[in-house]
Amino acid sequence: MSFVVKMNGSQNNDIHGNFISGNGVHHVSVRTHVNVDPAKLKSLRQRWSVKPSEMSKKTLNPIRAIVDGMKLTPNPEKPMIALSIGDPTVFGNLPTDDTVLQAMKEAIDSHKYNGYAPSVGYQKSREVVADFYSCPEAPLDGKDVILTSGCSQAIELAISVLCNPGDNILVPRPGFSLYKTLAVSMGIQVKHYNLLPEKSWEIDLQHLESLIDDKTACLIVNNPSNPCGSVFSREHLHKILSVASRNCIPILADEIYGDMVFPGCDFQPLAPLSSDVPILSCGGLAKRWLVPGWRMGWILIHDRNDIFGTAIREGLVKLSQRILGPCTVVQGALESILNDTPPQFYQGTISFLKSNSEICYSELSTVPGLNPVMPSGAMYIMVGIEMEHFPDFQNDVEFTERLVTEQSVFCLPATAFEYPNFFRIVVTVPEEMMIEACIRIREFCARHYRPRSQDSHELDQ
Ligand SMILES: Cc1ncc(COP(=O)(O)O)c(C=O)c1O
Repeated sequence: MSFVVKMNGSQNNDIHGNFISGNGVHHVSVRTHVNVDPAKLKSLRQRWSVKPSEMSKKTLNPIRAIVDGMKLTPNPEKPMIALSIGDPTVFGNLPTDDTVLQAMKEAIDSHKYNGYAPSVGYQKSREVVADFYSCPEAPLDGKDVILTSGCSQAIELAISVLCNPGDNILVPRPGFSLYKTLAVSMGIQVKHYNLLPEKSWEIDLQHLESLIDDKTACLIVNNPSNPCGSVFSREHLHKILSVASRNCIPILADEIYGDMVFPGCDFQPLAPLSSDVPILSCGGLAKRWLVPGWRMGWILIHDRNDIFGTAIREGLVKLSQRILGPCTVVQGALESILNDTPPQFYQGTISFLKSNSEICYSELSTVPGLNPVMPSGAMYIMVGIEMEHFPDFQNDVEFTERLVTEQSVFCLPATAFEYPNFFRIVVTVPEEMMIEACIRIREFCARHYRPRSQDSHELDQ
């Protein structure tokens, strides 16, 4: 049955109004057959009130918060040297390999990669990544890989699928700040476990285990580490796995610097060592292939004991559907990037990073008041400041701020990594810049170093 309702009135009126739902303002157009004076219509809201969401207010990047709060006015007589940016491409001294560029050009010219891919990536590209990382102890196939927009999105998906608001995650201190930024914005509590500089930044396992409670949803292990440049031994990784296994905590392994380790040191991915702990390993092209702007990352799902089961896999697929995965052209280039890049390219990058780290370490370890910790991989070196010898400054933020004012050298204060009294140096800068920066840091420290009274007494004797 249908009704036709006729309203009185001679004209058709289009009434335009604003219908406000949540924070979005939707324009609606209501067609009536009545004579209504639009000015007399009462809307649900009388005035504008568009406010940032709670999530946006809870999203904080500590690096930005600290750096934006610093007075960074370089000395006009000295050209600026930024040792703060974790982007290996900024100075042009570390280009990616020609094979990588060629693969991208061919992907564009093929015209095959202009459309949408499945949200988890093309099946073929997933298989390529699976084959590249598969090993007998931790076999992978295409369905175990989710392609993401950079390693950052891999981390975001992994945290999102494992944690609910009110849960907590365990993250390293010092550690990469993104974990906290993402977690806090999602209402997830962050608990920091300590790394030990005197033990080459190994995890304080007792401290780690003491933090676990019934709300702990995931343990994040970053190896090799940003900001420490440390690389965990097999033995240490086994101990970390024992803690996770004993407490039934899944691991998010951030292995974006995987294989970027100095000669003589061995990178061991976590998953092949695990007998039961399920692991989401996050990685990508950014660092090892020196193309961070291409935004290609991945999650490798390691779940040999079926603990994640289909539910976590389905959760990851659903979350990936919020946006449609990474750039398809890069997905098209992946096969050649992973399989054809010559070993000399990787070796070249690593020997450069090692040599620059050695220059920096040997220069700064003879500077009174500074204690650099020699890295074994990645692109960073952490330097301890004996603050008691630098009474001109209250903390690492002031120290690094004045280093810019006087010497035009910018290093990130490690407060940005929840680790005061240290600063982080990025070792991807050209060698001559590294040498010049170390000379200036030495000059700066010599100017501000004050022996403690007891030390000066000892010196007098
Ligand atoms: C430890 C760590 N994880 C993840 C990322 C993010 O990588 P991507 O640029 O691929 O998002 C970085 C970037 O600096 C990093 O240092």
